[in-house]
Amino acid sequence: MLLDIQNLTKRFGGLTAVSNVSFGVERGEIVGIFGPNGSGKTTTLSLIAGILKPTSGAIVWKDRDISTLTPFEVAQQGLVKTFQNPQLFPELTVAQHMRIACHLHVKRALGIGRLRTLFSGMPAELDRTLEHKIGQMLELCRLSSQRNDEAGALSYGGEKMLGVAMGMVCDPELLLLDEPASGLGHDEITNLDAVLRDLKSHGVTLCIIDHKVGFLGRLADRSIALHHGAVIATGKTEDVLANEAVVAAYLGKKHA
Ligand SMILES: Nc1ncnc2c1ncn2[C@@H]1O[C@H](COP(=O)(O)OP(=O)(O)OP(=O)(O)O)[C@@H](O)[C@H]1O
Ligand SMILES: [Mg+2]
Repeated sequence: MLLDIQNLTKRFGGLTAVSNVSFGVERGEIVGIFGPNGSGKTTTLSLIAGILKPTSGAIVWKDRDISTLTPFEVAQQGLVKTFQNPQLFPELTVAQHMRIACHLHVKRALGIGRLRTLFSGMPAELDRTLEHKIGQMLELCRLSSQRNDEAGALSYGGEKMLGVAMGMVCDPELLLLDEPASGLGHDEITNLDAVLRDLKSHGVTLCIIDHKVGFLGRLADRSIALHHGAVIATGKTEDVLANEAVVAAYLGKKHA
């Protein structure tokens, strides 16, 4: 198993946001995470990405517990998370955002020597490598034609796609996506669906949170449903979405 979440719990004071959650992710699959507002979805992904530290439990990545690593170290291990709302710099271009997201490559290539690039520019060969990679990822994410646009000029769907492209340029083995379809229109969701299927065919494993049952229901091979921080259903996506406890969590017991 690529990722094995074991009895993960996160408390914020008296509130248990994630309660004894266990699930696994196999290489190459798309795993969906469903659950109503406040059910602990973002907290779970933030724990996996090292952004939050668990109160208890283990996050085993390729047989090693990574729950004490920093977000940067987790990303270096191949686990990268995108954010529910991308925080971009409106006055920087799409390509400049991609350069910022290349920091892992620069660190790998130059180590501490990367500090020199602040004063004298990037070594030409590394610069070519980064530009090539950025070009590939923008193409994969259908953003090539907006390469030189300022982020402030992007649609919300474009901003979210740039968040995915920035995650992808870190070379993830597992990409964790927090509500990539929220706020998107029909055509943007169709585009996102195609991009995510392409990422899968490029060998990236995906773990996706979303409320959009149509979108994630079609995409996810397997799903987990959370309610009040706990797993209430797991299995084939269609079975999870039809599960009585899941329907009741979203719509109330009357509808289940
Ligand atoms: N940093 C924090 N401090 C205190 N409480 C928090 C913190 N982060 C999340 N919570 C609480 O933990 C619970 C789970 O929040 P979380 O953001 O994980 O839910 P979610 O399932 O992602 O919801 P949504 O669908 O609205 O994004 C909520 O009650 C939330 O208010
Ligand atoms: Mg959330």
